[in-house]
Amino acid sequence: MDERIDPTKIKRIAINTGGGDAPGLNAVIRAATLAALERGWEVYGIRHGYRGLIDAQEFVSLTADSVHGITHLGGTILGTANKGNPFEFPTKRADGEVEVTDISDTVVRTFHEKKLDALVCIGGDGSLRIAQKFINKGMPIIGVPKTIDNDLSGTVITFGFDTAVTTATEAIDKLHSTAEAHERVMVVEVMGRYAGWIALESGISGTADVILIPEIPFDMEKVAEKIKRREASGRHFSIVVVAEGAKPIGGHLMTRGPKEAGREVLLGGAGQYVAGEIARLTGKETRSLVLGHLQRGGGPTTFDRLLGLRFGTAAIRALADGQINVMVALDPPRVKTIPLTKAIETMKAVPLDSDVVLTARSLDICLGD
Ligand code: F6P
Repeated sequence: MDERIDPTKIKRIAINTGGGDAPGLNAVIRAATLAALERGWEVYGIRHGYRGLIDAQEFVSLTADSVHGITHLGGTILGTANKGNPFEFPTKRADGEVEVTDISDTVVRTFHEKKLDALVCIGGDGSLRIAQKFINKGMPIIGVPKTIDNDLSGTVITFGFDTAVTTATEAIDKLHSTAEAHERVMVVEVMGRYAGWIALESGISGTADVILIPEIPFDMEKVAEKIKRREASGRHFSIVVVAEGAKPIGGHLMTRGPKEAGREVLLGGAGQYVAGEIARLTGKETRSLVLGHLQRGGGPTTFDRLLGLRFGTAAIRALADGQINVMVALDPPRVKTIPLTKAIETMKAVPLDSDVVLTARSLDICLGD
């Protein structure tokens, strides 16, 4: 597989956004488009993941005008999809049954028919894994790491994460007053899939009393002890942050229904489970809420805007330098490129000896162990 492209031959590139949206996507689209136009390249947007390479209506031209005034906007002007993986494409048969087929060859054929020289693929681990499969079929790709979960290896941070943590922290701040007024335990479930970054960083910043993350299977007795200790010291309320992927020791991931074809299983229920157990073990009045997609919504923080703009221009600089099949990554103070294979090799879980975990422990935050 060729890992370089002759940059003097680049005339047309395309951009797509895949997987769950993350604040900062539009900043990347704008930056990549303007940086490519500046080099005299034509730029196209492939709407809804790869749908733009299956359905002509979803293939759009990107100009300076079409990316005007979008840096601060949440969502993505290209739309996204977290089902519709072309390698496992769900199609409804005449009898109503869903059949999974591999339509990746159609995508590759259309990519070449449209005379595209490279694709800037903005995605998280799922979308970048799909991108790698297209690389294996000869499509030149530059990856841009996006996900609120911050679970991609090779980059210190993904854009979208800072906004999600900010939203979660603000929510935890607000829960304090109502928890204290009613002398209740408030349990808040946050996103993050199999990584505890959002829970840990928002929980520490929002001064939670208990934070449960997937990397540390929890013991409900330990959680109850912490709440009882607070009670005994005159603190009659507690805030508990639970990552959606957290599970009890010896227990299993909590999911919402069976896995659908061509998409990740949906997680959910951990917060409600923990709230029920706290009520049973402590006798305290307990409420739970799920922050859910609020964490993905709204405009990006300054950090995510800037990171998105830096990633977008870096992707085009990498292409102009002849690089393909790499992902741009933050390695402060630089944005560098790494082979895409490295980014998807392993999930970036919270290291148990990291300073954030040590900080939580020093602040007497119970991590459930
Ligand atoms: O990966 C981003 C994410 O928001 C996860 O944190 C969450 O588990 C999942 O996507 C939710 O997916 P959906 O948008 O399909 O509900």
